[in-house]
Amino acid sequence: TKQKLWGGRFTGKTDPLMHEFNQSLRYDRRMHAADIRGSIAYAKALTKVGILTSEEEQQIVRGLQTVGKEWEDGVFNIQPDDEDIHTANERRLSELIGPLGGKLHTGRSRNDQVATDMRLWLLDEVKDVEAGLKALIRVMVERAEQEKDYLLPGYTHLQRGQPIRWSHLLLSHAFSFHADLQRLQQLIPRVSVLPLGCGALAGNPFVVDREFLAKELGFQSVAENSLYGVGDRDFIVEFMMWASLSMTHISRMAEDLVIYSTAEFGFVTLSDAYSTGSSIMPQKKNPDSLELLRGKSGRVFGNMAGFLMTLKGLPSTYNKDLQEDKEPLFDAVDTISASFKIAEGVVATMEVHADKMRQALTMDVLATDLADYLVRKGVPFRETHHISGRAVALAESRKCQLNDLTLQDYQSLNAKFTDDIHSVFDFEASVERRESIGGTSRKMVERQIAVLRKALEN
Ligand code: ARG
Repeated sequence: TKQKLWGGRFTGKTDPLMHEFNQSLRYDRRMHAADIRGSIAYAKALTKVGILTSEEEQQIVRGLQTVGKEWEDGVFNIQPDDEDIHTANERRLSELIGPLGGKLHTGRSRNDQVATDMRLWLLDEVKDVEAGLKALIRVMVERAEQEKDYLLPGYTHLQRGQPIRWSHLLLSHAFSFHADLQRLQQLIPRVSVLPLGCGALAGNPFVVDREFLAKELGFQSVAENSLYGVGDRDFIVEFMMWASLSMTHISRMAEDLVIYSTAEFGFVTLSDAYSTGSSIMPQKKNPDSLELLRGKSGRVFGNMAGFLMTLKGLPSTYNKDLQEDKEPLFDAVDTISASFKIAEGVVATMEVHADKMRQALTMDVLATDLADYLVRKGVPFRETHHISGRAVALAESRKCQLNDLTLQDYQSLNAKFTDDIHSVFDFEASVERRESIGGTSRKMVERQIAVLRKALEN
């Protein structure tokens, strides 16, 4: 290597550690197919403005296809000076077709090239992520369909609140994922903006047809400002924000299941396929899958927060800091894809214990229904709430359940109690009364299933 321009105190060569520090091929090789696709489209655009003859275009395209195939077959020969996927592909192209390879980069910069590759790559991945999310929702809907009969206490503050259907709880998580599905679909137009043809920063002096490029590569729109085109990475932040939120939903569901899988609750048992043992305590079956799901939500959020820190304060257009967009994005995509699959497997295979759920239904979770009973007899709710609370206290002092109190006990609390009081102490009747939209009655649970099924069709 020759001495660098800024020689002086330098010995000429890039410091070996700096050389390595600068290299991104180790991870950005994942975008090899996107890089080739972008280059093929760009070669065509150059032909349209007379920079390449169609003979030259064909040679370049064939060369690029060969390079792409080498990556796919795992035989691409990486050279020490291949700095990133863009330089590696161009170096190999020129080896294959000679100096003509050097015409491809006319008017193009790695700045518009890398931004294009990232967007193309992410658009492809989003399709898989979406499929994984839909598969998870589907499994949850199927379980909800089959287990509509199971009742358990619904909790607030982790204290028993009111009886609900197990399916209602499952579907509550599924609706969070449904909103994630919508949000994922809604962020696509902002990823699908073409930077190619922005050049290094000021635009393309050979006046390549960018609308043609967008069409060739399947972009929905063209970046209208070249400085924005090369410098924007908001689409990466937005995807990672999306992933952070969706991982948060996975994490909250995982936490419910961790609690429900304890011996103290015993509502669910994870299948062996998603549990692990202890190296010292032979009896243990730990819900590691759920704990990892919960833990990895922090990791994805960290990717997002970390890259946002990188972005903050950068001057306009391209700065090498932007190379730090890749590892967090790749990791976020890998982590959330795996998480959807694991969550799907856990939900599909866990055992659900309807009997244990039923045992947890103590009569006190009908205290609201008891208050509502008097409301139906014309007593204002604020009074009935108090009366029902006194019934709970009375039962507690007698160490008995609400339905063990006598009619006389109830009548001593309020004269409107009559012997139909016992109709209150029926969990099934309680959930069936919740029949406005969103309630836990059978019909409203079925309605939720129908809504989600419909959403999955698109
Ligand atoms: N590897 C670089 C990246 O990922 C490609 C762009 C390099 N551009 C430049 N002007 N050095 O950001």
